[in-house]
Amino acid sequence: MANQRAGILGTGHSYPEGILTNADLAKIVETSDEWITTRTGIKQRRKAAPGEYTSLFAVRAARQAIERARLDPADIDLLLCATVTPDQILPSTACIIQAELGANNAAAMDIVAACSGFLYGLSLADAMIRTGQARNVLVIGAEILTQYVDYTDRQTCVLFGDGAGAAVLGPVDSNRGILATKIRSDGRYEEQLYSPGGGTRRKPTAETLAAGDHFFKMKGNELFKVAVRSMAEVSRGVLESAGLSAEDVDLFIPHQANQRITEAVASKLNVDMSKVYSNIAVHGNTSSASIPIALDECVEAHRIKEGDLLLLASFGGGVTWGGVLMRW
Ligand code: ACO
Repeated sequence: MANQRAGILGTGHSYPEGILTNADLAKIVETSDEWITTRTGIKQRRKAAPGEYTSLFAVRAARQAIERARLDPADIDLLLCATVTPDQILPSTACIIQAELGANNAAAMDIVAACSGFLYGLSLADAMIRTGQARNVLVIGAEILTQYVDYTDRQTCVLFGDGAGAAVLGPVDSNRGILATKIRSDGRYEEQLYSPGGGTRRKPTAETLAAGDHFFKMKGNELFKVAVRSMAEVSRGVLESAGLSAEDVDLFIPHQANQRITEAVASKLNVDMSKVYSNIAVHGNTSSASIPIALDECVEAHRIKEGDLLLLASFGGGVTWGGVLMRW
């Protein structure tokens, strides 16, 4: 059935019990709660314990989303896992999740688009459902970022946290669901946020590990400007495609990178902060997991009503960015 509208049928999220506060960080690196709070809005982040891995939280989030969609894992025909911190290189984390869930009728694959991964996933799910190539699509964003930050680099180690969020999408009535999506990237900005070690360019050796090549390196200041510009541009893009304006938005869930980025994007779009969801104070930046965790928190708190217009926008390493507009 071509041109079938796709919408979210169920959401879920999960994160580690461990909490790393700003005060904890101030004990290991030269920083302070005051600096982190005023520059980022972050007060704490979740941190996986040794032995905890990405798919563990992804599976918990996915089970919840499937249950709330009133489906069975066997009903999922496409499983997309957005992550830059996979369980291992091969097989994909999506395949590991598939086996754990028993979603044995699905095609499963990972999406590597950093913080935009979940919106890339929603965009692909929308296209597959609309064109009739898939019916029920599970999209997950899951990360254990605290294993990839250098706890001697005060600029990055204060930002990132761990967790997973998931959504099940399926065909919905034409008065709701995804109205527009837009995904973009620009590889020329690779060095604004990257992890040079561990792949074929710089395979893991004792030397690359000792040099910390597997850690995230970031030019925070430059990213900040590109992030604000790109998220505002892509948000305008999806609104325009749907013939709507920022005034029509009931809830804006931006990628949770920095509270100042969120406020700057909202101000550029003229969206009042009362319509903007923020959980950065308690989660920090969880990359691809940030939007689905936020979305599920909004669902659980009844912050989204039927018929609400929801705008999602993201920005991440690559660089990548994306926007999704949907009627709930
Ligand atoms: N504690 C104390 N001081 C610090 C810290 C810290 N944790 N980090 C940096 N500083 C210092 C710097 O050394 C600098 O000192 P100097 O002036 O003596 O040189 C000063 O604070 C200002 O540094 P800036 O980098 O200019 O600080 P800025 O206000 O830009 O904040 C930050 C830095 C928070 C990283 C910000 O630039 C940011 O959020 N950028 C965007 C990051 C982002 O979104 N990244 C992820 C995309 S997500 C993904 O794909 C995974």
